[in-house]
Amino acid sequence: MKVLMVCLGNICRSPMAEGVFRNKALENGIGLDVDSCGTANYHVGEHPDPRSVKKSEEYGIDISNLKGRQFSYDDFNKFDIILTMDRDNYRNVIALAQTEEDKAKVKMTLNYSYPESNMDVPDPWYGGEQGFEDVFQLLDQAANAFFKIHFDE
Ligand code: 4NP
Repeated sequence: MKVLMVCLGNICRSPMAEGVFRNKALENGIGLDVDSCGTANYHVGEHPDPRSVKKSEEYGIDISNLKGRQFSYDDFNKFDIILTMDRDNYRNVIALAQTEEDKAKVKMTLNYSYPESNMDVPDPWYGGEQGFEDVFQLLDQAANAFFKIHFDE
């Protein structure tokens, strides 16, 4: 299975999500390909925000080498599931879908842990350190629910 994590800049939330999901897959011996990207092109080619790198490191996850890229239509062909961090990301990705199959791949990340809530992973970019801890915990919960649902782990 291939899963793509999507946020706005691909430097704060989705790289952390990529790290959390990849780490859990490795820990559980599950074959899951994980990637991340942003709907915007502001930070293409950049490494994740140092605050996301630090927070992930605290939990034993190294995301320092990831590089920002922008979502493109081809991602619908490459991935089975596309997880968006917030409603804006969801709308922007859905707007590029060309088929019902494309649309069905797109889900709000926190709907795994909080079904049908359409809750956002709050953008921590303008806030303080606590925002990054909150994001990590939300992503960790979502990943646990994701593996339970798709892999019965
Ligand atoms: P992300 O956070 O979408 O979680 O990567 C942001 C990163 C950069 C910007 C906004 C949000 N920005 O405006 O540059």
